[in-house]
Amino acid sequence: MKMNKIIVANLKMNILSKTERDQYLELFQKELAGKKIKNCEIVLCPPAIHLEGFEKAKIKKTKIGAQNMFWEEKGSYTGEISPLMLKNFGCEYVIVGHSERRRYFCERDEEINFKIISALKNRLMPIICVGESKVEKDSGQTLKIISQQVKNALEKISRTKAENIIIAYEPIWSVGTDVIPTENEIMEAKVLIRKILSGLFGVKYAEKVKIIYGGSVSSLNVDQVCLKPGLDGVLVGRESLTPHEFIKIAEIIN
Ligand code: 13P
Repeated sequence: MKMNKIIVANLKMNILSKTERDQYLELFQKELAGKKIKNCEIVLCPPAIHLEGFEKAKIKKTKIGAQNMFWEEKGSYTGEISPLMLKNFGCEYVIVGHSERRRYFCERDEEINFKIISALKNRLMPIICVGESKVEKDSGQTLKIISQQVKNALEKISRTKAENIIIAYEPIWSVGTDVIPTENEIMEAKVLIRKILSGLFGVKYAEKVKIIYGGSVSSLNVDQVCLKPGLDGVLVGRESLTPHEFIKIAEIIN
C-alpha cells in the first residue's frame, strides 16, 4: 500500500500580528506556486488565533491543523478550544501531546488519550507526539518510554480509526537543538511503534497509521531523518517559519 507522505508545520507561538501572518501567507503562496508537490500532504498548524486567517487564505494543496485542543466539545472551560470549533474553522488535523505541552502545561498520557478520542470522534486527525528526554535516553529507557506513551495514547481506540492516526516520534532532546538521532535510532523507534500498533490493532490496520519524525528537521537532514528510515513524513518546527525552507523539505520528500 502506498500512502501519501505528510509534512506538518508546527508554527508554535510565533507570527505575532495580522501583518506578520499576511506576510507569511503571501510568501508561502509565492514559494509554493509552480512547485509540483503531488505525493505529499502539507499541513500548516498556526497558533489558534490565526486559524481563521490561514483558512481564508485557501492555499492550494495545503490543509490546516491546530496545535492543541480540549476534549470537551462545549461549555464552561475558560481559555480552551473545542474540537467542534476547530472543525468549524476548517481544521482537519490537530497536534496532540507535544512535548512542550507535556512539559509546560503538565499534560499527562491520560489527558492526551481523552484528546485523541475526542479528536477522532470529531473527525480531526490527531498527530500524536511521543518521545524520550535526554535523561531517559542516557539511561537506556528510550524504547520503554515510547512504548508507554503510544500504548497510553491509544487506549480504547478502535482499529477502524487507524487510518486517521498519525504518530510523530519527536525525541525531546532533538526539539530546538539541531541535534538529530541517527538513522538507526529512528528505525528502531519506527519498528517499535509499528510493533505496538500491530499488537493493538492487528498488522493490517497497524500499517494504516502514519509514522513521522519531528525534531530539528531541515532540508539538509530530511534524508537521514525521514527518507532513509522509510518514515511517512516530518513534523517541522523552526524551519516552517521560513516558507522557502519548509517547501524545500516538502519537495525533497516528494
Ligand atoms: P524544531 O524543528 O524547531 O526542532 O521543533 C520541532 C518540533 O517541536 C515540531 O513539533
